[in-house]
This record gives sequence, structure tokens and C-alpha cells, in this order.
Amino acid sequence: MYSDRINALPPYLFAAIDEARDELIARGVDVIDLGVGDPDLPTPQHIVEALRKAVCDPRTHHYPSYAGMMEFRKAAAEWCKEYKGIELDPATEVLSLIGSKEAVAHVPIAFVNPGDVVLYTDPGYPVYKIGTIFAGGEPYPLPLKAENNFLPDLDSIPLDVLRRAKIFFFNYPNNPTAATADLEFFEKAVEFCKKYDIIAVHDNAYSQMTYDGYISPSFLAAKGAMDVGIELYSHSKTYNMTGWRLGFAVGNRDLIQGLGKVKSNIDSGVFDAIQIAGIVALRSPQTCVEETSKIYEERRNALIEGLKAMGLEVKPPKATFYIWAPVPKGFTSIGFAKLLLEEAGIVATPGVGFGEAGEGYVRFALTKPVDRINEAVERMKRLKI
Ligand SMILES: Cc1ncc(COP(=O)(O)O)c(C=O)c1O
Repeated sequence: MYSDRINALPPYLFAAIDEARDELIARGVDVIDLGVGDPDLPTPQHIVEALRKAVCDPRTHHYPSYAGMMEFRKAAAEWCKEYKGIELDPATEVLSLIGSKEAVAHVPIAFVNPGDVVLYTDPGYPVYKIGTIFAGGEPYPLPLKAENNFLPDLDSIPLDVLRRAKIFFFNYPNNPTAATADLEFFEKAVEFCKKYDIIAVHDNAYSQMTYDGYISPSFLAAKGAMDVGIELYSHSKTYNMTGWRLGFAVGNRDLIQGLGKVKSNIDSGVFDAIQIAGIVALRSPQTCVEETSKIYEERRNALIEGLKAMGLEVKPPKATFYIWAPVPKGFTSIGFAKLLLEEAGIVATPGVGFGEAGEGYVRFALTKPVDRINEAVERMKRLKI
């Protein structure tokens, strides 16, 4: 019944954990869900108010423009200049997105022919691989290892793969490892993409979720990056707007145009009222972002202390709201996630669900208040491992 494309999808590895979680909840167990990467905090009020006003204006009720409102693209370009130090032409180098997920899925449709290889970091956001499969491409995982600070080893890719490679997806600050990359790595990535004629797609969904004064660089700030790539930004995590579906792509104009061509044939753009609220988010003082980061920082510290007390050595990440923790000796990632759930009522995501190289880790999302995280820590300390 299904297409080969659907039949080629990898199995959903979280199904067993989801089922066990739902069963525990149904039995009345007080489950602490640190599984999903969806902020528990509300969208800041000034953004909600902007939507409330915009939605009452009938001019927003029509089909939006495919590329996005010019004012939204201008606001995105100004934001990129102010916070990332990059210059963009809003008319040709910025495109509005219905969240960054659709761009990850649509980029391969724009640029990949059957048999082309798409390089992506593993463990990683599953859509890099699935978008590639949907476009008839061949996904090629680049393992992220602790000994390389969770950066891919670009020198390890065989030449026959590089010759067929069309796209390189990467993502720093990284989901799920919480690793960050500096400009030096991005410059290396530019050189690599130029040498092998590969399109760079930097997924920067967590760009503003940073701690301890760390500022994450834009890939496009690397010399020559505008020649080879695009970068994806999202309102989802920056402004607690996951449900609103809003983001933007920036970078090389031919690549932006290619992505726009796919989108204009598949979707009809972002609801204007949401773009208007998105402009307010981008142009207002970013105090709400700083306040949110402070909250996650406190949660991060609480969980890291707890994991340390259990003998699990995890360095506090500088960015993202994830903790990527190695599982205790003798466990697989699924086995440890199961133990956490069944013995402590804690949901964590098994690392292998993000790709083979995620084996040996679990991901905790800091999406519960600090008292619940402390409660999770107390429960974990009581585990016999
Ligand atoms: C690495 C990464 N990229 C992209 C996305 C998609 O985010 P959105 O479509 O909400 O912008 C996510 C969501 O969790 C993610 O973790």
C-alpha cells in the first residue's frame, strides 16, 4: 500500500519507551518526562499580544507571499546583523519558513538527484536522514564522538563518497549532544564544501539557547560561507514558539531560491499574522531570551550535579536544553532509558534513537521546573546501578 519511500523509513525506536511511559501514567505513576525537546515555558506575552492584534486584522487572512513578508525578511536580516554579525539582502538572501523542520526536509528535494549522497551528523535530528531518503538520496552518517568534541571528522570520508556528496547537514549548538562549534570548525567546513562542491546546510535551531556568557557563531560568519551554504533559524526554541511554526533560512541566494522553488510548489507560506508576531519577537529587546536561558541554566546545573552524584561524568554544556549523558557500564541506551522509566518514572531519550553513533548515551531535555529536576535526581540516586 505504501510507497517505497515510506517503506524505506527506519523503524521508530522510541515506540517501546512511549508505550511504557503511557502505561505508567495510566497506572497513576508520577512520571517526570525529560524526553521531548519542547519548551515548557510559554511564548513571551508581547509576542502573544502582537499575534492577537494581527489576527484581528482581515488583511492578514489571505494567502501569504511564498518568500515571506518583506518586513519579516527585513527583521530577520536586521536580527542576523545585530546578533550574528552577518550582512544579508532581505530580498534575495532570506526566506521565511514554517519552522526549520520543513526546510530540512525540503532542501534535499531541491538539490538531490537519486544516487547523490547527503552527509549528516550522527547522532542527529532524524529529518536529515529521512528528508534525504524521501528525495531518493543516499544518507551518509558522520559519527560524532566524545574524543572529537562531537564534531565530525571530515577527513575520514572516503573519496568515492565525497565525489557523490551533494549536501552536508550539520547543527551547532547540537541536538542531541549539546556540543558547540567555533568559527574555526565552520571555516574548515567551508573549505571542505568548496573543495568537493558540496552544499552546506547549517541548522542553527538552538543558536540563542546559550549559557555562561557563550555566544554561538553563525556559520555564515565564516569566510566564504555565503558562497557554499545556507543557515536555518527558528523561532521555536528561541522564543518558546514551537507550536507557531516559524523560522527563516538565510544565505547563498541561489540556494535560497532553490529552496523557495520547492516550497512555492508544496506549501503556501507562513500565516501573515504569525509573521507579524515573529517580527515583534525579532525586533524587541531580547530580554525574554536571556531570562529563558537563565532558567535553563539553573535546571542544567541541578541535573549535572545529580548525574555527578551518581558517578556519571557530564560536563555542563554551553548551549541547548539537552544533557547528553553516557550510560552506566553494562547498559545499552535503550536498556538504561527503560531502567530510568520503570524504576524511577523518568523519561529520557535513548541515544540510539538519534542514530547508531548515539548508542551509549541518553538525552535529557531540561523541560521541567527545577524542583521536578531535583526530584528526578533524588530518584536516580536511589537506583541500584
Ligand atoms: C536540530 C533541530 N533542527 C530543527 C528542528 C525543528 O525545529 P522547528 O521546525 O520547530 O523550527 C529541531 C526540533 O527539535 C531540532 O532539534
